[in-house]
Amino acid sequence: MKFVLKRRKLGQLMIVSTVVATISNFVKKAVAQTQVQKTTPMLKTSTPQTTKVTLRVNGTAHNLQIEPRVTLLDALREYIGLIGTKKGCDHGQCGACTVLVDGQRINSCLTFAIMHTDAKITTIEGLAQGDNLHPMQAAFVARDAFQCGYCTPGQICSAVGLVNEGHAKSDAEIRELMSGNICRCGAYPNIVTAVRDVLEGKKDAAV
Ligand code: FES
Ligand code: FES
Repeated sequence: MKFVLKRRKLGQLMIVSTVVATISNFVKKAVAQTQVQKTTPMLKTSTPQTTKVTLRVNGTAHNLQIEPRVTLLDALREYIGLIGTKKGCDHGQCGACTVLVDGQRINSCLTFAIMHTDAKITTIEGLAQGDNLHPMQAAFVARDAFQCGYCTPGQICSAVGLVNEGHAKSDAEIRELMSGNICRCGAYPNIVTAVRDVLEGKKDAAV
């Protein structure tokens, strides 16, 4: 009987101690969670960090306050308002966004505006001299080298860059070196003819 009582008491003690341990763990966890909540900073709505960027486009300096991640294409179109440069794919596959930076053709969607603060940037709007079309523009018109015209600013800037490079000597080379500029309308034969006209005409197509 004594032994039975002892065992019963022992059992009661074990139950009580288990309950106490469970409550204690629960309280510890609750306190820990409260501390984490207190020390974890609240997620703030991010404020864009902008910086001052001066771009020299078509001979004019433009002071912009933009985020460093703004592409040259977006800077030209959205901040400066030069919408002649077109956005096609926005990731380097169509050439619609081609502009000239220090005379070299680049896809403006693949580069940040902030990288070109010391450069001379030329867009399609900057090729003509007043009412006089650039020789490449004139050749595109003369050869009917476009249909819808969406790719045309990029094609013309790219063709001017190609002339600056001085590598293209044949139609095959023109096609190869212009292959980064896609034309959905398929105006390729006339584009090649227009570029060849400028190359053969030895017109000053440099910018
Ligand atoms: S928009 Fe830049 S390559 Fe297509
Ligand atoms: S003229 Fe239409 S995409 Fe080239």
